[in-house]
Amino acid sequence: MSLPDIDLSAVPAHVACVMDGNGRWAERRGLPRTAGHEAGLDALFDAVDGALEIGVQWLTVYAFSTENWSRPRSEVRFLLEFNRSILGARRDEMHRRGVRLRFVGGRDRRLARGLLKEMDTAAELTAANRRLTLTVAFNYGGRAEITEAVRRIVAAGIQPGEITEDTVGSHLFTPDMPDPDLFIRTSGEYRLSNFLLWQVAYSEMVFLDVLWPDFSRRHLFEAVAEYQRRERRFGGVDQ
Ligand code: IPE
Ligand code: IPE
Ligand code: MG
Repeated sequence: MSLPDIDLSAVPAHVACVMDGNGRWAERRGLPRTAGHEAGLDALFDAVDGALEIGVQWLTVYAFSTENWSRPRSEVRFLLEFNRSILGARRDEMHRRGVRLRFVGGRDRRLARGLLKEMDTAAELTAANRRLTLTVAFNYGGRAEITEAVRRIVAAGIQPGEITEDTVGSHLFTPDMPDPDLFIRTSGEYRLSNFLLWQVAYSEMVFLDVLWPDFSRRHLFEAVAEYQRRERRFGGVDQ
């Protein structure tokens, strides 16, 4: 795979990705929506390979939102079970590649203990890896994360006058994670759907028409090339 447009000295350190369009991909083929989720798996691992290839250090993917519980029970059950089986099947391979696996989201009672255990085992096994941190947002919602941060700040007895943006940032689920430089959403939808609300304040947004199961590293590279053509200003002016 050639990388004609990418400046390898200016690759985004953190890419966040809303993996969207699995259901439509399946429906267009006359398949059940769950077949789309299965097909999305190859896209995810190709994206991971692509990220490793160009030196992205943090990749965060949205796998299940706090709002996805409103889907039909059979689809929710499939997604929970599917994610557990992926972890068991791919954990060692990720570890061999130097990937640190992490999970962000609510650990509520609707998640089976076996799934939480798989997540913990994978996180512990890969904790020392530093080549790429793959954070899987599971039962994740940006508003839930910020709400939880507020609870933690209050519980710690921090006084209102002492609260800064850093205080909020350091009480989020993953305080050591840098903000995403590049945000990608597939499937042609132009919305955040409650993903990393605090952290994407200054991310560059790239929306792709491809459905997630058709995504591959080539799309990642195109998004990175687009990112490199952007001028990031952070509210300032060019001097
Ligand atoms: C994204 O694909 C995967 C999850 C939300 C788990 P969708 O299932 O949302 O697919 P569409 O958007 O219905 O096509
Ligand atoms: C966002 O996609 C959640 C994930 C990709 C896991 P959705 O398909 O759930 O978002 P909406 O419903 O289109 O906003
Ligand atoms: Mg969707």
